Amino acid sequence: MKGVIIIGLMAISSIWLYQRVNDLIKPLPKPELDTNTYWGPGNPTDYEAPKDVVPFKIAYDQTIIDDLRTQLNRTWRYAPPLEGIKFEYGFNSDALRHIVDYWRDYYLLKWRAHEEFLNSLPHYKTEIQGLNIHFIHAKPKPEAYKEKKVVPLLLLHGWPGSVREFYEFINLLVEVSDINDYVFEVIAPSLVGYGFSDAAAKPGFDVAQMAIVMRNLMLRLGYEKFLIQGGDWGSIIGSAISTLFPENVIGYHSNMCLLYTPLSMIKSYIASFMPERFLPQRFFAEHHFPLKDKFKLLLVESGYFHLQATKPDTIGIALQASPIALAAYILEKFQQTTGPGLNQEFNAMDKVYKLDALLDNIMIYYLTNSATSAGRFYAENMSRKFLGLQLDRVQTPVSMGCARFKFDLPPALDWALRDKFPNLIHSTYYNQAGHFAALEVPVMLYINFQEFAKKAIQIEEAKV
Ligand SMILES: *[C@@H]1O[C@H](CO)[C@@H](O)[C@H](O)[C@H]1NC(C)=O
Ligand SMILES: *[C@@H]1O[C@H](CO)[C@@H](O)[C@H](O)[C@H]1NC(C)=O
Repeated sequence: MKGVIIIGLMAISSIWLYQRVNDLIKPLPKPELDTNTYWGPGNPTDYEAPKDVVPFKIAYDQTIIDDLRTQLNRTWRYAPPLEGIKFEYGFNSDALRHIVDYWRDYYLLKWRAHEEFLNSLPHYKTEIQGLNIHFIHAKPKPEAYKEKKVVPLLLLHGWPGSVREFYEFINLLVEVSDINDYVFEVIAPSLVGYGFSDAAAKPGFDVAQMAIVMRNLMLRLGYEKFLIQGGDWGSIIGSAISTLFPENVIGYHSNMCLLYTPLSMIKSYIASFMPERFLPQRFFAEHHFPLKDKFKLLLVESGYFHLQATKPDTIGIALQASPIALAAYILEKFQQTTGPGLNQEFNAMDKVYKLDALLDNIMIYYLTNSATSAGRFYAENMSRKFLGLQLDRVQTPVSMGCARFKFDLPPALDWALRDKFPNLIHSTYYNQAGHFAALEVPVMLYINFQEFAKKAIQIEEAKV
């Protein structure tokens, strides 16, 4: 009798446990969201967005540039770094002093040339859901349309980046060459709240809302079907577009394939005991294991994340009050992503990215006053409303490609990624480069993307 009761209790508790675990790991259905929420200021009745697309040029008065030079010339009460310390305590103030001198006395004296470079790709603005959205729209030369198939591509940046990350990459994407089958019409928007795009005037503008605006932008431009490429937020937003609107996406390529679901955590824990079953030996240490080190790195490097996810306006005030503070805060991230070892060298950033490109990026945040609104995106993504959607657990049939660079955040294994992207058609590892791949290794990213695009487009063509 006692035995029967025990067996009965065991059966009941196993069913209970099975259901709890299943609740935690089963795929979720796709949520239905309003695709036309108004995010501009006020609450106009009968709002209709003007549909025109207007050319845009980056053009700032000399007085603004002179004022910045004066600010960079003020006595700066800096604290010297501790003895023998480089970047371990945050951005090194000695390194920063040199950069500020260069910024003021060399870079800004040639601002017109930098502005001209930034205007070398065609820019536009159009209004979506109450927001003026800025984007680069680069097309191949007219002859290219006769020689190659031209495919639209939505290119998405992240924080603390901007469209500046993509210039070299875009110039490759629109170029006809012997080795490629496809060329691209590239649409590279400034994210909402970033750079030359408006910021949402109301709380709640999270990743799903960003995905909706970016997809509406593509529809406005007449693209019903397109490819997506992104790293950082761009990767997370691309994943959300693929999840919410798979009918619009030919393929989604990421250079930051993160996935933080309960099941993916369990899988990477299991895989840590037998990594050789999951990936070639030479990639263990760089990309996935030991997990302890990877989590420690995330903890040490993600202070900014917690700050922006909780009190973005406070740090935003400091960053908008002082261009030097803005530079230190943004450059800390680029410095860190130059990679271990290298990242203790003062000139590593210039070697890996070119200092002028990083200053172009800082100028975009400075001139558009967007440090606060850009930081707020972290707070919105951590809101209960958005996390409740659990988009990472909603599967999408879209073809997915993944390029994992050595010094990027620890990515998901294919074994885990396939839970969300059953059509993972391209999965690669690199023994070099880091988080800002488009800026650091544009040719490598281009070749990787081209290989992916070829597969994704062929799958798409086979459907019709
Ligand atoms: C910077 O300050 C020095 C000394 O006050 C002055 O000579 C110089 O003209 C200033 N430069 C700028 C760019 O304001
Ligand atoms: C934002 O939310 C998405 C979906 O839940 C998640 O995958 C991602 O890791 C979050 N990203 C950040 C930077 O918080």
